[in-house]
Amino acid sequence: MRISVIGCGYLGAVHAASMVELGHEVVGVDVDQRKIAALCEGRAPFYEPDFESLLQHALDSGRLRFSTDVADAAGAKVHFVCVGTPQRHGEYAADLRFVRAATESLLQVVEPGDLVVGKSTVPVGTAAELAAMFTEKVPGSLVAWNPEFLREGFAVRDTLHPDRLVYGLPSDGDGAVAERLLDEVYAPIVARGTPKVTTDYATAEMVKTAANSFLATKISFINAMAELCEATGADVKLLADAIGYDDRIGRKFLNAGLGFGGGCLPKDIRAFMARAGELGADQALTFLREVDNINMRRRIRMVELAREVLDGSLLGKRVAVLGAAFKPDSDDIRDSPALNVAAQLQLQGAVVRVTDPAAVENSRREWPHLDFAATPEEAAERADAVLVLTEWREYRELDPVAFGTVVRAKRVLDGRNALDREAWTAAGWTYRALGRRAG
Ligand code: UDX
Repeated sequence: MRISVIGCGYLGAVHAASMVELGHEVVGVDVDQRKIAALCEGRAPFYEPDFESLLQHALDSGRLRFSTDVADAAGAKVHFVCVGTPQRHGEYAADLRFVRAATESLLQVVEPGDLVVGKSTVPVGTAAELAAMFTEKVPGSLVAWNPEFLREGFAVRDTLHPDRLVYGLPSDGDGAVAERLLDEVYAPIVARGTPKVTTDYATAEMVKTAANSFLATKISFINAMAELCEATGADVKLLADAIGYDDRIGRKFLNAGLGFGGGCLPKDIRAFMARAGELGADQALTFLREVDNINMRRRIRMVELAREVLDGSLLGKRVAVLGAAFKPDSDDIRDSPALNVAAQLQLQGAVVRVTDPAAVENSRREWPHLDFAATPEEAAERADAVLVLTEWREYRELDPVAFGTVVRAKRVLDGRNALDREAWTAAGWTYRALGRRAG
């Protein structure tokens, strides 16, 4: 099948290459020339394990092209909209500028019988609005909403092996036609029995925001427990293990620490609250404000803990920050808790050096006043404290004995509860973590 993918950022680029892997002929379109040039050469414009080899494989097959001209999407039967929906500046609501631009541009190429599939995370009600526009301007064209649940760091696996497919379909007879087309797109995934939920637009749109809200709530729940553990001397890691054995609760997404960041969870819960307000249902989501507050408090607490460990003052203290990306296996620094903490420490007078295996370049661009180092050893040279704020494997596997020779004082703050406390304390380090007693 011929497919176009409009928007070749994180979601779109991975989706385009994955659709080739499923056997289709794909054109990826983006207005960003640099991004398109990189993709054409088989280079990923972002860090994502396994993506470059998938991209190269897709390009080698001759069935993947990239273009900056939407006219090249003509002739495709299914058009995926994969553009970003960031938080609107100074507001909670989502910015739909890119969705509108992408769908407007698609009007030039969509033909009757074509299917336009939205994958972007949008406020509930957007799909119906776009469907009305396409029906008016291109009678006979179809719109479906097919949210994407990929996680950064696992994008290829999540796209090719999703744990469910969700189709938001037109409510009239066109629904069956759209479903058949989507089944054809995802044929190998459907054939292996992946659960499929077919529903209306509003439900499909809400599945995505509800899922992300649930995940954010789970993280903030355990971080609220961490606050209590700090007040009572209890241990949040063991608490999470113990409640996680109940399979109604589950251990996943119960890792207490610095909380969530990134380009999805924070902005999605805020946009969800804003949309609920517009719909007159804001009370339903007031708890998400608390979820957001708990999350932001963790960053402040981390800075307090650093001050505590550094004998009550940050002024002139040398602090190494290990981790800048919002999570491991990513170079994404959007709303990164680690960089937020690093900047707060610096503002309060500490001499901060940040390192990250993949995100230094992005960080330097966005946070030019911070100081960066290439390796943990370089960042920690003569440091008074080391903060592990993103749980990269490189940091989890650091040898506390050898690393101890680099620093001035062996103090480690484990912002992600990711280090082996016993090994670090045995090597003479003062170990502190959020939600756990001092080691
Ligand atoms: C998320 C959703 O998981 C994904 O389904 C959706 O499509 C996009 O948003 P992503 O932002 O890539 O994916 O990261 P995720 O792995 O969900 O982590 C989000 C944040 O939560 C990270 O900052 C991570 O460090 C934090 N986190 C995660 C915790 O603090 N504790 C946990 O137990 C899990």
